[in-house]
Amino acid sequence: MSSDPATRVAVAFDPAHPELAAHAAAIAADLGLPLCLDGTAGFDLCLVLTPQRLELRQAGPDAPGPVFADFVGGAAAHRRRYGGGRGQHLARAVGLRHGASPSVLDATAGLGRDAFVLADLGCRVTLVERSPVIAMLLRDALVRAVAAPEVSETAARMQLMLGDALALVGGLPEAQRPEVIYLDPMFPERSKSAEVKKEMRVFQRLVGADEDAPALLAAALAKARKRVVVKRPRLAPPLDGPKPSGSVQGKSTRFDIYAPHSGC
Ligand SMILES: C[S@@+](CC[C@H](N)C(=O)[O-])C[C@H]1O[C@@H](n2cnc3c(N)ncnc32)[C@H](O)[C@@H]1O
Repeated sequence: MSSDPATRVAVAFDPAHPELAAHAAAIAADLGLPLCLDGTAGFDLCLVLTPQRLELRQAGPDAPGPVFADFVGGAAAHRRRYGGGRGQHLARAVGLRHGASPSVLDATAGLGRDAFVLADLGCRVTLVERSPVIAMLLRDALVRAVAAPEVSETAARMQLMLGDALALVGGLPEAQRPEVIYLDPMFPERSKSAEVKKEMRVFQRLVGADEDAPALLAAALAKARKRVVVKRPRLAPPLDGPKPSGSVQGKSTRFDIYAPHSGC
């Protein structure tokens, strides 16, 4: 992980809603970040609690819009309806083709979009995220999803863990080995879509490049029961390590598939 160590992050809340102050203070205390009551000048990124959600805002004149996780509306709702179900590339790569719903450990959870797609298709998904700030965005989205009847069942199949997946995967006992381990490490300039660009700019500041991804692949190969899947930009080389045994290719993305060292 090579985030900018000088990135200053604070917590704030919508000043029109003073009733959010206690919740914002709890988030700030949980993360060990300052709570701003009188403006966020001097900070690069700010986690802002609004009546709708928790969102991450970047400071500065050309700052992109807020970044947040959401499993109920927007792109998540659209993908639920029109994403292609078990035929979509991600689902095929993970092995959902013939009615199977493997257990999945998403070792690079991010904003949880891929994990949500898999959970929506019936998989039990453990999401691991090492950035406490991003994990807090995820937790906020999961709490909202659990309360929304249209996705509450899906949210119940998602379990969030804060921590470094490298240590967590390495320490998995036999009984908890997942069938599939999924990796989507940060990669520069992975998409030209405005939405992803905005998110990437914020993520680059917060978490930097995932330079330890090859080590995570090696750990995953030792623990997955059925396969390891790595998401890459379509034209990027595979992660350093063994050659993938296959891949599923989309328009801008490729999913490399690896057979684990010891299946069962
Ligand atoms: C490109 S994003 C993943 C996006 C995600 N697939 C989605 O659908 O929203 C990569 C994320 O993985 C996290 N990450 C990278 N390596 C990790 C590790 N070893 N343990 C836990 N999280 C990790 C980063 O902090 C970052 O949030």
